[in-house]
Amino acid sequence: MLSVNSLVALLSATAVYAQQSAYGQCGGTGWAGATTCVSGYTCFETNEYYSQCIPGSNPVPISGGSAPSTTLMTSTISSGSGGTPTTSGGSSATGGPGTTLQSGYYWIRAVEAPNFHDYLQTSPEYVPGTAILDSYTTAGQFQIVSGQLVELVSGGLLYANVEMMANSTVNKLSVTFSTTKNTYGTFAFSGDAVQWDGTAVGVARQNLSAWLVCTNQTLWINLGAYGYMTPAGCADETIHYYNGATAVS
Ligand SMILES: *[C@@H]1O[C@H](CO)[C@@H](O)[C@H](O)[C@H]1NC(C)=O
Ligand SMILES: *[C@@H]1O[C@H](CO)[C@@H](O)[C@H](O)[C@H]1NC(C)=O
Ligand SMILES: *[C@@H]1O[C@H](CO)[C@@H](O)[C@H](O)[C@H]1NC(C)=O
Repeated sequence: MLSVNSLVALLSATAVYAQQSAYGQCGGTGWAGATTCVSGYTCFETNEYYSQCIPGSNPVPISGGSAPSTTLMTSTISSGSGGTPTTSGGSSATGGPGTTLQSGYYWIRAVEAPNFHDYLQTSPEYVPGTAILDSYTTAGQFQIVSGQLVELVSGGLLYANVEMMANSTVNKLSVTFSTTKNTYGTFAFSGDAVQWDGTAVGVARQNLSAWLVCTNQTLWINLGAYGYMTPAGCADETIHYYNGATAVS
């Protein structure tokens, strides 16, 4: 016959060993439940209050700096949309949050011709690659946290990385998304406009909101003035967040 004490011990041992299911909570202040996830999922710390089991084996947590103004990752990544999971680097499933805006995230889009309502995304979609403005049907979901422009993807976040200015003749800087944080300048929202400020790394800009969209819809930071001496093959744009439930053309 089991004593009450050994029964309690057995139950708590069970609680410790149980694995949380997909998208379930797996940590945070006061959390007493499972802290590991079922196979194929990793416990991703959103903030000190909440961790969640999300697909993939190599999540990139947000750490350092001040807390985000909105809570990240409290909603689940919906299944069945956002591209077929693929394998890259041998293990991580890739994909995205799909076509419904997740809590705490935004669409980011241009509002001027010739890129009116083209949306920020990576090329290829949801994996490290070039930042482009393209169709609303493949729009990514973004937030700015502690100066980092982040995209929500399965397995964690991608960070917008800015190309270093090679010399004083350069008039635009490329933007690529990576699993590592940006160390060159900081991103911010000014109203709904996305800005990049390079002051701290010695890059003076006439207009912090000036962007360029060039060949193949690639997005660049415009180091010149908005609408003046636009580089060949490029169009001047400002880019803005949009928080409608779905991206629209
Ligand atoms: C400045 O850097 C750009 C980009 O790397 C390069 O193409 C160009 O040749 C450089 N110009 C000079 C004068 O060094
Ligand atoms: C930057 O350019 C945009 C687009 O023309 C304009 O709306 C904004 O006022 C400019 N900002 C500054 C600080 O000049
Ligand atoms: C644009 O994309 C096409 C097709 O992928 C590629 O062949 C071409 O080199 C790209 N152009 C530039 C300037 O990157």
